[in-house]
Amino acid sequence: MTQGNETSPPAEPAPPGVNPDVPHSARIYDYWLGGKDNFAADRQVGDAMVKAIPELRAMAAENRKFVHRAARDLVTEQGLRQFLDIGTGIPTRPNLHEIAQRLAPETRVVYVDNDPIVLVHARALMVSSEQGRSEYIAADIRRPASILSEKALLETLDLTQPVGLTLIAILMLLSDQDDPWALVAELRDAMPSGSVLAITHPTADFNPEAVGEAVASARSAGMTLVARTKDEVARFFGDWELLSPGIVPTSAWRPDAPVDNPEATYYWAGVARKP
Ligand SMILES: C[S@@+](CC[C@H](N)C(=O)[O-])C[C@H]1O[C@@H](n2cnc3c(N)ncnc32)[C@H](O)[C@@H]1O
Repeated sequence: MTQGNETSPPAEPAPPGVNPDVPHSARIYDYWLGGKDNFAADRQVGDAMVKAIPELRAMAAENRKFVHRAARDLVTEQGLRQFLDIGTGIPTRPNLHEIAQRLAPETRVVYVDNDPIVLVHARALMVSSEQGRSEYIAADIRRPASILSEKALLETLDLTQPVGLTLIAILMLLSDQDDPWALVAELRDAMPSGSVLAITHPTADFNPEAVGEAVASARSAGMTLVARTKDEVARFFGDWELLSPGIVPTSAWRPDAPVDNPEATYYWAGVARKP
């Protein structure tokens, strides 16, 4: 897909169901990561948010690095061979199944997102190892029961065996009125013992003023974006047991090398196991 810039129109029309004039989280995130699947409206809000928090691009990259480290440890340390990733985003290599299947080729992954632009790219997510499998479901996390009863999910994952449930940079897109805690609890309840939940979530705990400004930019463009405190993020894990080092800034979760100023990621990350 080719997009235009602020002054020229897109060279190709937006895919069906995609309104290029309304900024969207998946495309803003793609823009910060250096991707090409974004439009002027996305870049405008993305730039306004970066003005408030200059570290935002690095934060998006740190979020991806967390996915790499968490997937690695869930496969090698927790022995997981199946994942349910909700809020997948526009594919960014290596994707979750690529990381997991490099370590355990038989790994099965189901991706879920509700954005039409992610659906356009879903084929890229479904190039699986021969021994494993990856599937994509177009669905909304606000309807957990419909995700859990999807044929593609039931044919790909065995819900009697532990699952890695990854909710990476998605829950901030749900308002408190959506009761994201109840939605996540419903997903947790459907997972057997030994399953693991990984979450990243933006917070205003470290710099309320800058994060407040970034959130205001997103909201003034019509987006839902909620920064949450460490306690609010902790509630998503219910009674599951947090793996070491607990809920920490994203870059400080089992870093590959020492990190300076981890709070500059403005994101909490945590991974917990169902007893
Ligand atoms: C910021 S991106 C994160 C992408 C990826 N998880 C990562 O961290 O690299 C958030 C994704 O969540 C998706 N999303 C937002 N609300 C959703 C909902 N209600 N149900 C399913 N997906 C949703 C968006 O379409 C977007 O692709």
